[in-house]
Amino acid sequence: MDAKRETFETRLKSSAAEIEALLDLLLSPTELSDEIARPDLLRSAMHYAVLNGGKRLRPFLVVESAALLGGNRQAALRVGAALECIHCYSLVHDDLPAMDDDDLRRGKPTVHIKFDEATAILAGDSLLTYAFDIIAAPETDLPDRSKTELVLAIARAAGLGGMAGGQALDLAAETQAPNEAGIIRLQAMKTGALIRFACEAGAIIAGASTEDRQRLRRFGEKIGLAFQLADDILDLTSDIKTMGKATGKDAARGKGTLVGLHGMEWADKQLRRHVEDAEELLVPYGERAALLITAAHFIAERKS
Ligand code: IPE
Ligand code: IPE
Ligand code: MG
Ligand code: MG
Ligand code: MG
Repeated sequence: MDAKRETFETRLKSSAAEIEALLDLLLSPTELSDEIARPDLLRSAMHYAVLNGGKRLRPFLVVESAALLGGNRQAALRVGAALECIHCYSLVHDDLPAMDDDDLRRGKPTVHIKFDEATAILAGDSLLTYAFDIIAAPETDLPDRSKTELVLAIARAAGLGGMAGGQALDLAAETQAPNEAGIIRLQAMKTGALIRFACEAGAIIAGASTEDRQRLRRFGEKIGLAFQLADDILDLTSDIKTMGKATGKDAARGKGTLVGLHGMEWADKQLRRHVEDAEELLVPYGERAALLITAAHFIAERKS
């Protein structure tokens, strides 16, 4: 393994460990002030949904984008944990019988299988809400102005015009196949929006200039597209054991994917193009951006 890749993997592992410790603490049985009680079944389901493996790529992007621009690491970890709560909620709901109907996630039974459907729905609801709590809470050491910007940006990324909207378009695409532009838009929403937020959040946390914020945002957009393209390729080429989730399902369900539309060779080429574009955007930061650039390569070349 080359040195850059090794550094990346070490940093990904260490930020994942920090994020997991924080999430474990946030999902402990002890109530926070103004919470009346923490029903244990629901809390356990949330804990299971979040602390069941996972690459923790989104929190890593928050932490490293913030680091690039000189942001507070502790605050970045909390924002990363908030984002991971929203990501995990999206997975819990994505796996429900009414959506992709999957039994396995991160190599373990999905939340509605391990618990039950109602608990899975409520665990998703509570994880989404908790994300806003984590950002706004006094423990997140940022100016109120930055917190407001983060809350606004994460809400826009997760909601109607972002992830949840993209999930709706993804389901609609099962019955009416979208064209290329339609697929790109639905992927930019269902997967891209949270990844774009991850990168932009680093700039908000650092109180960076509009130009830096815009640059990180565009970097996030590119790697977001690469991320879903890689997911779609892996759905075709990988297996359940490597992925920890069912594969071969997109074609079976008639999901609108670019791989389905253009084939594997095109998809591979397109993936490389996204990574080149992403890399280009970080040229102004020189060597300091090496880690984020390796992350872009990892996203495209990942095996799970
Ligand atoms: C899977 O995301 C869902 C998609 C958006 C394609 P990840 O591949 O980041 O899943 P985990 O968090 O590592 O399990
Ligand atoms: C999931 O896309 C995107 C979100 C959960 C928002 P997929 O349905 O392709 O994700 P996997 O393949 O189940 O992880
Ligand atoms: Mg889905
Ligand atoms: Mg799915
Ligand atoms: Mg998929």
